[in-house]
Amino acid sequence: MNTQTLLTGQTLTFRGNPFIQAWEDCVHIDSAGAVLLEGSRIGAVGPATTLKAAHPQASVVNYGNDLICPGFVDAHAHYPQTAMIASWGKRLIDWLETYTFPEEARFADPSYASDIAGRYLDLTAAAGTTTIASFATIHPHSADALFAATQERGQCMVTGKTCMDRNAPDNLRDTAQTAYDDSKALIDRWHGKGRAHYAITPRFSPTSTSDQLSALGALWAEHPDCLMQTHLSEQPDEVAWVAELFPKARDYLDTYEAHGLLGARGLYGHAIHLTPREIDRLADVQGRVIHCPTSNSFIGSGALNLPQLATRGVPLGLATDTGGGSSFSMLRTMAAAYEAAQHHGHALHAAQLMWLGTAGSANALHLGDEIGTLAAGYYGDIAVLDLQSTAAIAQRANRSGSVWEDVFATLMMGDERAVRATWINGNLI
Ligand code: GUN
Ligand code: ZN
Repeated sequence: MNTQTLLTGQTLTFRGNPFIQAWEDCVHIDSAGAVLLEGSRIGAVGPATTLKAAHPQASVVNYGNDLICPGFVDAHAHYPQTAMIASWGKRLIDWLETYTFPEEARFADPSYASDIAGRYLDLTAAAGTTTIASFATIHPHSADALFAATQERGQCMVTGKTCMDRNAPDNLRDTAQTAYDDSKALIDRWHGKGRAHYAITPRFSPTSTSDQLSALGALWAEHPDCLMQTHLSEQPDEVAWVAELFPKARDYLDTYEAHGLLGARGLYGHAIHLTPREIDRLADVQGRVIHCPTSNSFIGSGALNLPQLATRGVPLGLATDTGGGSSFSMLRTMAAAYEAAQHHGHALHAAQLMWLGTAGSANALHLGDEIGTLAAGYYGDIAVLDLQSTAAIAQRANRSGSVWEDVFATLMMGDERAVRATWINGNLI
């Protein structure tokens, strides 16, 4: 018999997508709720009194008025950029050359990769994040390091070796063949083992030749259950560069489609400056757009019109994009998502923001039937939020008439200090 632990507090549950249905109909907070953990999984979710009576042997952890919610799912990050987050003064291409590539070159040392993987998982767990889709570096052992560190913790992880065979420093380039071979070996070693999921990872079209994109498209066709992650239309200069590098392509998205890299299991980070054709195509194939709002502000990329994409039926996830993003916290990321939508005249509700950072991102990663929601059978990946974590937030909450106002204040003003506890795989971290 698995050990049983009952977490009591205010519980947040989803019964649908608040971008499709009215949020009131599909997102609920039970002010006296409970989540029963049985081993690594959730056994039941319901009223605290009912679950206490049904499971008298369970040990109880009472979180009072804290909000018990699904652990956050960060659908696009670069764990190798942990140590260079918040690097000053550059836009995308200069930022990559000045800060990112030199830092990623340090991952030639496997022990450095392991150190940063551990540090990154500690920082993200402290922020309530329980699953991440992260880029690794060009070095296959950088993906091994992250998978190994997550397996020790029983944590779900999506990652893949980054592939680049041009427009990158010599020590950060592979070839079409080695990118294929090394990625394939990593798939064989990790994909589907425990909670590890492999994502084939061409960094973005400017750093891959047509040969490399084709090789990775072929690999994806051979392993269609893998994810594929990359970047799309982040900055206008980058979009113009892609047009020069791929003169026959209809647009940026077409550089992926022409090489077999467009599909529903494709994760396209940023996607701010899309043409109408690209939006239609993403909606047709259900390609995932991953919104990276702190990064989009920090590197000066622009404000994604997320409500427009949601209306067009493009599946969406939310992400920090560490270290182009300026925070490890999905709370800070939700605040930035709110602000970006305001630039387009839309006010996202707290229920929509919470959904994006949990169930929405989980659906984007095709893991929505095991994480991102508090329900029986799902993994015990949980974040517990203190809704009065700082004096500034507490005084706002004391004025509020509703729990949703409190949640919104924590989303807008909260950070790691609001994360009372993080549970991963049924264990308190
Ligand atoms: N485009 C290509 N590589 C990167 C990266 O590491 N970060 C961001 N934000 N955009 C990219
Ligand atoms: Zn990125």
